[in-house]
Amino acid sequence: MRKNVVAGNWKMNTTLEEGVGLAKDVNEALKHVDAKCDVVICVPFTHLASVNAVIDPAKLGLGAENCADHVKGAYTGEVSAPMVASTGATYVILGHSERRQYYGETSETLKEKVNLALASNLTPIFCIGEVLEQRENGTYFDVVKAQIEEALFDLSAEDFSKLILAYEPVWAIGTGKTATDDQAQEIHAFIRGVIAEKYGKEVADNTSILYGGSCKPSNAKALFAKPDVDGGLIGGAALEAESFMGIVTAF
Ligand code: 13P
Repeated sequence: MRKNVVAGNWKMNTTLEEGVGLAKDVNEALKHVDAKCDVVICVPFTHLASVNAVIDPAKLGLGAENCADHVKGAYTGEVSAPMVASTGATYVILGHSERRQYYGETSETLKEKVNLALASNLTPIFCIGEVLEQRENGTYFDVVKAQIEEALFDLSAEDFSKLILAYEPVWAIGTGKTATDDQAQEIHAFIRGVIAEKYGKEVADNTSILYGGSCKPSNAKALFAKPDVDGGLIGGAALEAESFMGIVTAF
């Protein structure tokens, strides 16, 4: 079912002590608000088990920021979906533009990661989005459509329904430059249409599509007010409980 979701992506920030402290702060703050959305924090692998021990899973979901494209074995330095799930985490961000850009992730590897995440009962938060040049030359619709088709359209409708999508224009990530609420609505509606074409209107209507890219307390309300924007994937503003909660309470 379509849900509103605000998810933090901590990226490569916080030591273990800092991360556990931040998770405790968010968990505590959630006790005092009636959140109108699901709230999730996606944290570094090293923090997962410790963070899981200090949060109330009924109020705050926990996820990883990536997982391996293999289930186990001789892949030094990798962390598999079953390993993530064994920490108590139930979400995993996949296909973030920083993974695509700096670590060479392709639709082929992402397809495997999505399958393995689903097999471990993790909810993938699957990221798509264009770079500035593609925004400016107008190819962004094709780019985003291809990202979805290549990595996700081999899934059954049942499995596709387990995903959360996150539209993150690369030009808006960490730049302070946000897509306008109208720009976000335009592409979110397009994405929902692409899903509807393949899986039908019901599946499309039930898919949560989050916006990511310099989402802050000051712009979250306008973004979330758009009919096809179902929440946010938050980077920088998720690193302080106060600003993260300012986005959570925008719903
Ligand atoms: P910022 O919110 O820091 O722009 O990052 C967005 C993002 O990449 C979330 O995954």
